[in-house]
Order: sequence, then C-alpha cells, then structure tokens
Amino acid sequence: MKALEGVRILDMTHVQSGPTCTQLLAWFGADVIKVERPGVGDATRGQLRDIPDVDSLYFTMLNHNKRSITLNTKSDTGKEIFTKLIETCDVMAENFAPGALDRMGFTWERIQEINPRMIYASVKGFGPGPYEDCKVYENVAQCTGGSASTTGFDDGPPLVTGAQIGDSGTGLNLALGIVTALYHREKSGRGQRVTCAMQDGVLNLCRVKMRDQQRLQHGPLKEYPQYPNGTFGDATPRSGNASGGGQPGWIVKCKGWENDPDAYIYVITQAAAFPALAKAMGREEWLEDPEWSTPEGRLPHLDQVFGEIEKWTMTKTKFEIMDILNPLNVPCGPILSMKELAEEWSLRDTGTVVEVDHPTRGKYLTVGNPIKLSDSPSEVQRSPLLGEHTDEILSEVLGYSTEEIAAAKDAGAV
Ligand code: COA
Repeated sequence: MKALEGVRILDMTHVQSGPTCTQLLAWFGADVIKVERPGVGDATRGQLRDIPDVDSLYFTMLNHNKRSITLNTKSDTGKEIFTKLIETCDVMAENFAPGALDRMGFTWERIQEINPRMIYASVKGFGPGPYEDCKVYENVAQCTGGSASTTGFDDGPPLVTGAQIGDSGTGLNLALGIVTALYHREKSGRGQRVTCAMQDGVLNLCRVKMRDQQRLQHGPLKEYPQYPNGTFGDATPRSGNASGGGQPGWIVKCKGWENDPDAYIYVITQAAAFPALAKAMGREEWLEDPEWSTPEGRLPHLDQVFGEIEKWTMTKTKFEIMDILNPLNVPCGPILSMKELAEEWSLRDTGTVVEVDHPTRGKYLTVGNPIKLSDSPSEVQRSPLLGEHTDEILSEVLGYSTEEIAAAKDAGAV
C-alpha cells in the first residue's frame, strides 16, 4: 500500500509551484484530480513547446501520476460539479492569483461549510502585507526573498539561480503543510487552511544570509571574498562562490576548462582534511607555515589558497580530482552539466532520473521523486492528456450516469 493511498486531492494548481506539490503527493499514492479549464488547460501545456501540438515538457514533467478533468468552475453546472468534488476530496490545492477562488464563490468559509474535513492549501507570492495582491513568478520570488541580493559576485548585478527555489521550493513547503494538516485531522477531525508564500519560502532557504546580516554588525564576514581587502556595506553582500558554512570553499578550474564551461569543481578546505589536501597536491611545506597550516592563518588570503589549489586542479579532470580528494575526506563536487546528469547511470538506478513514455510525445526524461520511502516506492506515470479522465472521474468519483455526463457536456461545464 502506498503511503497516501486513500487520500484524494482536488488539484486546482497550475504552472510550477502548485503542480510540484501535488505531483509529490501523487507519487506517494494520493489520487490527484487535476481540474483544468475546458479547451485550454494548464497554460504550461502549451508553453516552451518543443514538438507542435504536443503537451510541453514543462507540463509533462510537473504533472505525473495525476488524472485530468476539464471543468469550467465559473459556470453554474461547473460549480455544482466542483461543489460535489469538494465534498468528496480530502485536500484542495491551488496557486491562482490572489482572490481567484473567492471570485468563483469558493471562499475558505464556503469550503468549510461544504466539507469541514477539507484541507485547503494555497501558494501565493506574498503573505499578508503590502504586496499580497501581486502576481508572482519564480524570479520575482527569488528577488524578493533575499536570494538575488546575495547571489552573484560582489562587482556584478544580483543574480537569479537556476534552481527553482521559489516555485518547486514552495511546492515542497506546501506538500509538508498538507501532510501535516492530514496528520492533525486524524486527531482533530477537522480540516484547516495551509498557506505558503513564495517570498517566505525563498527567505527560509536564505536563512544563512539573514544570519550573516546580523553577524555583520559585529565585524566583517571573514569567509567572504570581500575580506580583508574589500569593503562591506550595511547589508549581506554577494559572496561569489564562497561557502555559506564555516568551512571555506570555492569553485576552481579543472583540465579542459578552456573549452568546457563545466570543467570546474567545488573544493572545501575543511580544516581537518587540509593536511591531506596539501600532501595530495605535493605542498607539504604549507604544513610548516602557520599562514597556510591553520584555518585562521588561511582566512585573510583565501584567494591565494584557492589560486594555488586551482593551479593543481587545472592539471586534472574534475572526475580525477573527485577520485583523489574523496578518499582523503576532502569534500568536493564536480560541476555536473544537465547532459551529464541526464546520462548518469546511478541516478537512473535510483529512479531520480526516469524515462517515461507518452502517447503523443514518445519517450522523454524526467526527474522522479527525490524522497525515497522504503515501503512506498514511487512509480512515475505519464502526465494526463487534457480532460483524459473527465468521464471516469464524473462516473467513478461522483457517481454520474451517462446521461448526466452528457448533460454536463451539453451545458459546456466539462
Ligand atoms: N474554470 C474557470 N476559470 C478558471 C479555471 C477553471 N477551471 N481555472 C482557472 N480559472 C480562472 C481563474 O479563476 C482566474 O480568473 P479571474 O482572473 O477571473 O479570477 C483566471 O483563470 C486566471 O488565473 P490566474 O491565477 O490569475 O492566472 P495568470 O496566468 O494571470 O497568473 C500566476 C499566473 C502564476 C502569476 C498567478 O496564478 C499567481 O500569482 N499565482 C500565485 C503564485 C504562484 O503560484 N506563482 C508561481 C507560479 S509557477
């Protein structure tokens, strides 16, 4: 039995943040019913298309293991069907622009009236405050949540990161909120409202930068590249590739960097492993010199330290460095390209990268469930076509007869 078997989710999510949440819950075994506008569907079905008239990878990679029903929740018959779905589902998840469901007539108060056990989970860009009505996409959240101001190099502009921390990151928060509320419902018998703001989600992931904001009041941040020669302002600055923890690290070039944009490796000069690193590099003399042998001695000239390390790493490939340093307990990480990750056999073996077959697209690669449960393994099933399960859901979940389904279609509700 899958961990969330028996949990039914009314999935009103679209684009990325909400769909990542309900996809995770579907992988854990929940029955996720994705509600989409008739004829249109989730906007991502048509965005960034690589094959004409075929659901985009954007959509297929975010909506596995779900069923799709088309439903116009603004029409009278659509509202009737939607109300019945609220009655029968455990969770409703949505990430529309603020107020969209209220405008359809489905406020939290109304939802509680229909089904007091309903858990109503939403992603919004911002929590209550001056920006609560704003529409928000990934990069807006990265910029307003503290990520962009702290990412990049000191002499360059703020940068967004490729990791979708605002969307997929907040989707994770929402999923945790939902399963926590389900657990709570076991005891209380009642549903509750779960809200996750993308700004909050990004700020949560930037916790160490808020830490540094306060450390700054007590002196320069010695692990930042601005120390000791640069200047610090009154806010946490961008720290390039410096490590966010107490052990200095940096990205250094490896053999082939001139032609390969990913021929780099991250090396962390963890204090305990530094002697082994120095020996591997043939720099035993460092161990006799306190400016090199001690963490405090190295801090004021970390650029020089990593400059010397780089001279050595440039003589080897990133994988050779990985093979040399890991047995010495020197933490390091080759910069892996998406191509390398897509081809990595160990990720295929664990189901983190999965090949999926789709009726109109054919085979494609996706990222599977990153959370592994021993008793509830995830099988990745293709995303649904638009409205593929409309009839099935109306008859199986709501008990509609063939005539009633035909009438709903005639009314333009599904
Ligand atoms: N039947 C009828 N109407 C439907 C419907 C359905 N099944 N599904 C959606 N709609 C309507 C909505 O009610 C809304 O109508 P309204 O404007 O009259 O209230 C309309 O479709 C569009 O929804 P909206 O959310 O405003 O879409 P958008 O494309 O303009 O904005 C976002 C997209 C992502 C910016 C916005 O939804 C948002 O800010 N969401 C919250 C934050 C978030 O999750 N952002 C990350 C997305 S990856």
